[in-house]
Amino acid sequence: MTRTRIHNFSISLDGFGTGEGLSRDAPFGHAGERLHEWMIATRFGAPILGRTGGTAGVDNAFAQQHEPGIGAEIMGAGKFGPPGWQDDADWTGWWGPTPPFRTPTFVLTHRPRPSITMEGGTTFHFLDAAPDEALRAARAAAGGRDVRIGGGPTVVRDFLAAGLVDHMHLVQVPIVLGRGVRVWDGLEALEEDYEIEVVSAPSGVTHLTFDRRTS
Ligand SMILES: NC(=O)c1ccc[n+]([C@@H]2O[C@H](COP(=O)([O-])OP(=O)(O)OC[C@H]3O[C@@H](n4cnc5c(N)ncnc54)[C@H](OP(=O)(O)O)[C@@H]3O)[C@@H](O)[C@H]2O)c1
Repeated sequence: MTRTRIHNFSISLDGFGTGEGLSRDAPFGHAGERLHEWMIATRFGAPILGRTGGTAGVDNAFAQQHEPGIGAEIMGAGKFGPPGWQDDADWTGWWGPTPPFRTPTFVLTHRPRPSITMEGGTTFHFLDAAPDEALRAARAAAGGRDVRIGGGPTVVRDFLAAGLVDHMHLVQVPIVLGRGVRVWDGLEALEEDYEIEVVSAPSGVTHLTFDRRTS
Protein backbone atom coordinates (compact mmCIF):
# COMPACT_ATOMS: atom_id res chain seq x y z
CA MET A 1 0.00 0.00 0.00
CA THR A 2 1.47 3.38 -0.95
CA ARG A 3 1.59 6.17 1.60
CA THR A 4 1.03 9.89 1.64
CA ARG A 5 4.00 11.61 3.25
CA ILE A 6 5.14 15.04 4.37
CA HIS A 7 8.85 15.76 4.91
CA ASN A 8 10.97 18.62 6.20
CA PHE A 9 7.95 20.80 6.84
CA SER A 10 9.25 23.60 9.01
CA ILE A 11 7.16 25.53 11.52
CA SER A 12 7.88 28.21 14.07
CA LEU A 13 7.32 27.65 17.79
CA ASP A 14 3.93 29.30 17.35
CA GLY A 15 3.01 26.96 14.50
CA PHE A 16 3.46 29.14 11.41
CA GLY A 17 4.65 27.47 8.20
CA THR A 18 5.24 30.77 6.42
CA GLY A 19 5.25 34.44 7.27
CA GLU A 20 3.12 37.35 6.19
CA GLY A 21 3.76 39.53 3.15
CA LEU A 22 4.71 36.89 0.55
CA SER A 23 6.14 38.34 -2.65
CA ARG A 24 8.54 37.51 -5.47
CA ASP A 25 11.36 39.00 -3.37
CA ALA A 26 10.19 37.36 -0.15
CA PRO A 27 8.94 33.79 -0.79
CA PHE A 28 8.40 33.30 2.97
CA GLY A 29 7.34 36.87 3.73
CA HIS A 30 8.66 38.32 6.97
CA ALA A 31 9.92 34.85 8.00
CA GLY A 32 12.77 35.24 5.51
CA GLU A 33 14.98 32.15 5.42
CA ARG A 34 14.70 31.43 9.13
CA LEU A 35 12.38 28.42 8.78
CA HIS A 36 14.84 26.58 6.53
CA GLU A 37 18.27 27.52 7.79
CA TRP A 38 18.49 24.15 9.57
CA MET A 39 18.03 22.29 6.27
CA ILE A 40 20.32 24.47 4.16
CA ALA A 41 23.05 23.69 6.69
CA THR A 42 22.82 19.95 5.97
CA ARG A 43 24.52 17.84 3.31
CA PHE A 44 21.06 17.22 1.82
CA GLY A 45 20.10 20.89 1.79
CA ALA A 46 23.34 22.66 0.86
CA PRO A 47 22.96 22.05 -2.91
CA ILE A 48 19.60 23.86 -2.84
CA LEU A 49 21.59 27.10 -2.63
CA GLY A 50 24.38 25.77 -4.84
CA ARG A 51 26.65 25.05 -1.89
CA THR A 52 28.79 22.02 -1.24
CA GLY A 53 29.46 20.32 2.08
CA GLY A 54 26.95 20.55 4.89
CA THR A 55 26.39 18.71 8.14
CA ALA A 56 25.95 14.95 8.29
CA GLY A 57 24.25 14.58 11.67
CA VAL A 58 20.68 14.24 12.93
CA ASP A 59 19.24 17.05 10.79
CA ASN A 60 20.71 15.51 7.64
CA ALA A 61 19.42 12.05 8.56
CA PHE A 62 15.88 13.42 8.68
CA ALA A 63 16.22 15.79 5.73
CA GLN A 64 17.31 13.13 3.26
CA GLN A 65 14.11 11.13 3.84
CA HIS A 66 12.43 13.67 1.57
CA GLU A 67 13.27 11.82 -1.67
CA PRO A 68 13.33 8.00 -1.41
CA GLY A 69 10.20 6.22 -2.57
CA ILE A 70 8.36 9.32 -3.77
CA GLY A 71 6.59 9.10 -7.13
CA ALA A 72 4.59 12.35 -7.18
CA GLU A 73 4.14 15.57 -5.22
CA ILE A 74 1.11 17.71 -4.48
CA MET A 75 1.69 21.37 -3.63
CA GLY A 76 -0.45 24.46 -3.21
CA ALA A 77 -0.60 27.53 -5.41
CA GLY A 78 1.14 29.45 -2.63
CA LYS A 79 4.22 27.23 -2.83
CA PHE A 80 4.35 27.28 -6.63
CA GLY A 81 4.66 31.04 -6.87
CA PRO A 82 4.14 34.44 -5.25
CA PRO A 83 0.66 35.96 -5.02
CA GLY A 84 -0.52 36.76 -8.56
CA TRP A 85 1.64 34.21 -10.41
CA GLN A 86 -1.54 33.03 -12.11
CA ASP A 87 -1.52 36.30 -14.09
CA ASP A 88 1.97 35.56 -15.49
CA ALA A 89 1.69 33.11 -18.40
CA ASP A 90 5.48 32.53 -18.28
CA TRP A 91 5.72 31.62 -14.58
CA THR A 92 7.06 28.06 -14.18
CA GLY A 93 7.82 28.07 -10.45
CA TRP A 94 10.74 29.28 -8.33
CA TRP A 95 13.13 26.52 -9.24
CA GLY A 96 14.50 27.35 -12.72
CA PRO A 97 14.51 24.96 -15.69
CA THR A 98 15.32 21.85 -13.60
CA PRO A 99 13.06 21.77 -10.53
CA PRO A 100 14.12 19.38 -7.75
CA PHE A 101 10.90 17.32 -7.73
CA ARG A 102 11.78 15.05 -10.69
CA THR A 103 8.31 13.48 -10.67
CA PRO A 104 4.78 14.46 -11.73
CA THR A 105 3.94 17.44 -9.49
CA PHE A 106 0.36 18.54 -8.97
CA VAL A 107 -0.26 22.20 -8.19
CA LEU A 108 -3.62 22.87 -6.57
CA THR A 109 -5.06 26.12 -7.89
CA HIS A 110 -8.44 27.61 -8.58
CA ARG A 111 -7.00 28.87 -11.88
CA PRO A 112 -5.57 25.80 -13.62
CA ARG A 113 -3.48 26.02 -16.81
CA PRO A 114 -2.01 23.41 -19.20
CA SER A 115 0.69 21.09 -17.85
CA ILE A 116 4.35 22.15 -18.16
CA THR A 117 7.12 19.61 -18.73
CA MET A 118 10.38 20.78 -17.19
CA GLU A 119 13.89 19.36 -17.46
CA GLY A 120 14.96 16.58 -15.12
CA GLY A 121 11.67 14.69 -14.86
CA THR A 122 9.33 17.25 -13.30
CA THR A 123 5.99 17.84 -15.00
CA PHE A 124 3.71 20.39 -13.36
CA HIS A 125 0.01 19.59 -13.60
CA PHE A 126 -2.50 22.19 -12.40
CA LEU A 127 -5.60 20.93 -10.64
CA ASP A 128 -8.71 22.54 -9.22
CA ALA A 129 -9.80 19.60 -7.13
CA ALA A 130 -10.62 18.53 -3.58
CA PRO A 131 -7.75 16.90 -1.63
CA ASP A 132 -9.02 13.34 -2.08
CA GLU A 133 -9.46 13.82 -5.81
CA ALA A 134 -6.00 15.38 -6.13
CA LEU A 135 -4.52 12.46 -4.21
CA ARG A 136 -6.19 9.97 -6.57
CA ALA A 137 -4.64 11.77 -9.55
CA ALA A 138 -1.21 11.89 -7.91
CA ARG A 139 -1.35 8.21 -6.93
CA ALA A 140 -2.25 7.25 -10.47
CA ALA A 141 0.82 9.14 -11.70
CA ALA A 142 3.20 7.94 -8.97
CA GLY A 143 4.03 4.56 -10.51
CA GLY A 144 3.29 2.61 -7.34
CA ARG A 145 5.42 4.88 -5.14
CA ASP A 146 4.38 7.27 -2.37
CA VAL A 147 2.90 10.73 -2.78
CA ARG A 148 4.48 13.67 -0.98
CA ILE A 149 2.43 16.63 0.18
CA GLY A 150 4.89 19.45 -0.33
CA GLY A 151 3.10 22.33 1.37
CA GLY A 152 2.54 25.13 2.01
CA PRO A 153 0.78 25.21 5.35
CA THR A 154 -2.73 25.66 3.92
CA VAL A 155 -2.42 22.50 1.85
CA VAL A 156 -0.77 20.55 4.70
CA ARG A 157 -3.62 21.56 7.01
CA ASP A 158 -6.27 20.63 4.44
CA PHE A 159 -4.79 17.17 3.81
CA LEU A 160 -4.47 16.53 7.56
CA ALA A 161 -8.05 17.67 8.11
CA ALA A 162 -9.22 15.28 5.38
CA GLY A 163 -7.40 12.39 7.10
CA LEU A 164 -5.21 11.76 4.04
CA VAL A 165 -1.70 11.91 5.59
CA ASP A 166 0.03 8.67 6.66
CA HIS A 167 3.42 10.05 7.71
CA MET A 168 4.45 13.60 8.59
CA HIS A 169 7.88 14.93 9.53
CA LEU A 170 7.65 18.42 11.02
CA VAL A 171 10.61 20.51 12.11
CA GLN A 172 9.97 22.99 14.87
CA VAL A 173 12.38 25.89 14.58
CA PRO A 174 13.03 27.96 17.73
CA ILE A 175 11.65 31.23 16.39
CA VAL A 176 8.37 33.02 17.09
CA LEU A 177 6.85 34.48 13.93
CA GLY A 178 3.71 35.94 15.46
CA ARG A 179 1.90 36.08 12.11
CA GLY A 180 1.65 34.19 8.85
CA VAL A 181 -0.14 30.95 7.91
CA ARG A 182 -0.54 28.48 10.77
CA VAL A 183 -0.70 24.72 10.34
CA TRP A 184 -2.64 23.68 13.42
CA ASP A 185 -5.84 25.73 13.22
CA GLY A 186 -8.91 23.47 13.13
CA LEU A 187 -6.93 20.29 13.81
CA GLU A 188 -7.91 19.84 17.45
CA ALA A 189 -6.93 16.42 18.90
CA LEU A 190 -4.92 15.44 15.81
CA GLU A 191 -2.60 13.56 18.19
CA GLU A 192 -5.30 10.92 18.74
CA ASP A 193 -4.82 9.72 15.15
CA TYR A 194 -1.02 9.52 15.18
CA GLU A 195 1.91 8.02 17.02
CA ILE A 196 4.18 10.99 17.62
CA GLU A 197 7.89 10.89 18.33
CA VAL A 198 10.17 13.83 19.05
CA VAL A 199 13.92 14.20 18.57
CA SER A 200 15.87 17.27 19.62
CA ALA A 201 18.81 18.05 17.38
CA PRO A 202 22.03 19.76 18.50
CA SER A 203 21.29 22.52 15.97
CA GLY A 204 18.36 23.64 18.14
CA VAL A 205 15.49 22.38 15.97
CA THR A 206 13.07 19.67 17.07
CA HIS A 207 12.04 16.91 14.69
CA LEU A 208 8.53 15.52 15.14
CA THR A 209 7.30 12.44 13.31
CA PHE A 210 3.62 11.60 13.05
CA ASP A 211 2.66 8.09 11.93
CA ARG A 212 -0.98 7.22 11.48
CA ARG A 213 -2.19 4.73 14.09
CA THR A 214 -3.13 1.41 12.60
CA SER A 215 -5.80 0.60 15.22
N1 LIG B 1 7.37 25.67 6.06
C1 LIG B 1 7.66 24.88 5.05
O1 LIG B 1 8.37 23.86 5.19
C2 LIG B 1 7.12 25.23 3.69
C3 LIG B 1 7.03 24.26 2.69
C4 LIG B 1 6.51 24.63 1.45
C5 LIG B 1 6.10 25.94 1.24
N2 LIG B 1 6.21 26.85 2.24
C6 LIG B 1 5.79 28.23 2.08
O2 LIG B 1 4.38 28.28 2.31
C7 LIG B 1 3.84 29.42 1.65
C8 LIG B 1 2.64 29.00 0.86
O3 LIG B 1 1.70 28.44 1.75
P1 LIG B 1 0.19 28.89 1.78
O4 LIG B 1 -0.43 28.24 2.93
O5 LIG B 1 0.13 30.39 1.64
O6 LIG B 1 -0.36 28.32 0.38
P2 LIG B 1 -0.35 26.83 -0.19
O7 LIG B 1 -0.72 25.87 0.86
O8 LIG B 1 0.91 26.59 -0.95
O9 LIG B 1 -1.49 26.98 -1.28
C9 LIG B 1 -2.81 27.35 -0.90
C10 LIG B 1 -3.50 27.78 -2.17
O10 LIG B 1 -3.56 26.70 -3.09
C11 LIG B 1 -4.80 26.74 -3.79
N3 LIG B 1 -5.57 25.57 -3.37
C12 LIG B 1 -5.44 24.89 -2.20
N4 LIG B 1 -6.28 23.85 -2.15
C13 LIG B 1 -6.96 23.88 -3.33
C14 LIG B 1 -7.96 23.05 -3.88
N5 LIG B 1 -8.45 21.99 -3.20
N6 LIG B 1 -8.42 23.35 -5.10
C15 LIG B 1 -7.93 24.40 -5.78
N7 LIG B 1 -6.97 25.22 -5.31
C16 LIG B 1 -6.51 24.97 -4.10
C17 LIG B 1 -5.47 28.03 -3.37
O11 LIG B 1 -4.93 29.04 -4.19
P3 LIG B 1 -5.75 29.89 -5.31
O12 LIG B 1 -7.10 30.12 -4.75
O13 LIG B 1 -4.90 31.10 -5.48
O14 LIG B 1 -5.77 29.07 -6.54
C18 LIG B 1 -4.94 28.21 -1.97
O15 LIG B 1 -5.00 29.53 -1.53
C19 LIG B 1 4.97 30.00 0.80
O16 LIG B 1 5.56 31.05 1.54
C20 LIG B 1 5.94 28.85 0.69
O17 LIG B 1 7.24 29.30 0.45
C21 LIG B 1 6.67 26.51 3.47
